[in-house]
Amino acid sequence: MSASPASTPLQYDDEVVRRFALTTVLWGLVGMAVGVLLAAQLLWPALNFDIPWLTYSRLRPLHTNAVIFAFGGSGLFATSYYIVQRTCHTALFLPRLAMFTFWGWQAVIVAAAITLPMGITQGKEYAELEWPIDLLIAIVWVSYAVVFFGTIVKRKVDHIYVANWFFGAYILTIAVLHIVNNLSIPFSLTKSYSIYGGSVDAMVQWWYGHNAVGFFLTAGFLGMMYYFIPKQVGRPIYSYRLSIVHFWALISTYMWAGPHHLMYTSLPDWVQSLGMVFSLILLAPSWGGMINGVMTLSGAWHKLREDPILKFLIVSLSFYGMSTFEGPMMSIKTVNALSHYTDWTIGHVHSGALGWVGLITMGSLYALIPKLYGKPQMHSIPAINLHFWLATIGIVLYIVAMWIAGVMQGLMWRAVNDDGSLTYSFVEALVATHPFYAVRLAGGALYLSGMVVMAWNVWKTVQPQSQPSRARVVSQADLAGAIK
Ligand code: HEM
Ligand code: HEM
Repeated sequence: MSASPASTPLQYDDEVVRRFALTTVLWGLVGMAVGVLLAAQLLWPALNFDIPWLTYSRLRPLHTNAVIFAFGGSGLFATSYYIVQRTCHTALFLPRLAMFTFWGWQAVIVAAAITLPMGITQGKEYAELEWPIDLLIAIVWVSYAVVFFGTIVKRKVDHIYVANWFFGAYILTIAVLHIVNNLSIPFSLTKSYSIYGGSVDAMVQWWYGHNAVGFFLTAGFLGMMYYFIPKQVGRPIYSYRLSIVHFWALISTYMWAGPHHLMYTSLPDWVQSLGMVFSLILLAPSWGGMINGVMTLSGAWHKLREDPILKFLIVSLSFYGMSTFEGPMMSIKTVNALSHYTDWTIGHVHSGALGWVGLITMGSLYALIPKLYGKPQMHSIPAINLHFWLATIGIVLYIVAMWIAGVMQGLMWRAVNDDGSLTYSFVEALVATHPFYAVRLAGGALYLSGMVVMAWNVWKTVQPQSQPSRARVVSQADLAGAIK
């Protein structure tokens, strides 16, 4: 394929990107507010007010679905649609289908927000939604794949930039995971039964669950990282070769690590050990990717002091490195014997979720939103700085509290007296955990308040006077800096 002639302006379809970018902020606020409510309920259980749809068990899946699929998902749609156009030098393939994915995804989110508090669930973690909603997800996702890969096919440059490799892997894998894990026999409109039984059901569920982490919460966000870090630093990625090794090593390893969620269960022992070994191997590609992103700053470290958006992007990579070191350690059977069922897992989850997924999304949106609305920068740079510190302090409080609580719980549960009886009752461990739940609530509230600051800043930035035309006209000069 040949490059477009220098005089031809390129038209990008950014309306769908703008919509997804704004809903990322909206759903982030909602999902994190529910997280803060959950953290408060663990401290003061009476906060469910004896109302069934406010109970912890119903709000917990609402939180996970809202933050992962509504907040994270909208962020991934926005950035993948934006990046694939810029790096392929072409507009979206079938823009109307892209707009359908926007409305379809919002419909899924609203359906989840109604059915989960009603207690309608398949009972599979991160795959709670019942079969009619699952069908809608499958249709939206296949449409997403058609738009994304169609745009790659009609690209005006030979090269497929590495960010698109990560987005492509995430889109394909999530389609396969979603369809296979949700195969079920409907009993009524609101109830279905999985076609799998016993340990096979557990294995399929955690093959799904772990790869949802690997491909939804990791590969897609690495796509963001590979575009926005070089863009923000104004230099090419540290090593393009390393990014290719990173890609193939990561996607070929993640698939095998799922059994680390099922240690000491009825799953065959060798499968558990296989999961442990692949989880340990996973440390290498994960750190390769982190180093590649961080080293892109080499020679320009001063920018980290001056640019608050870079702070978001680079600190997110540090949390990525931290959680992908911690994860393999927790996969070691003897360590998992201590960490499983404890708040250590919750600490690990949120160092990845708040630190990596949250910060990389926020940093990318701060870089993206002014461009989408034809503004030179966000309305308030000090507000970005304030958000950064609120979020970072919030994360540290959250995860440190959960680490201490988790290790303490593990040790208290396994402590035995000389006669073999348990040293501590479960309630004693719960009482000891109580202060740490208060610290986690404080951390979560700080993180949420940072999100409120962001919502205000975004609102100010996108005010009507800066409203650009439906498709942004881009000159070749703009493209000179685009990543090839
Ligand atoms: C090398 C990479 C990683 C490995 C090997 C790994 C390993 C683990 C292990 C061993 C557990 C505990 C399983 C259990 O005892 O139940 C776990 C839980 C979890 N991890 Fe990771 N982790 C990695 C990276 C990440 C990242 C980057 C994120 C988030 C962005 C993440 C999200 C989660 C979630 C959500 C759970 C909880 C699953 C559940 O029980 O609901 N992990 N991980
Ligand atoms: C203000 C921010 C947040 C707060 C206060 C918060 C709070 C919570 C609480 C209290 C739980 C239940 C823990 C338990 O059952 O013991 C939870 C679970 C979870 N949260 Fe969050 N959360 C926040 C943001 C996020 C974000 C942004 C993500 C993902 C991008 C996320 C992903 C998860 C996941 C995957 C679980 C389930 C973990 C598991 O089953 O092991 N959270 N969160």
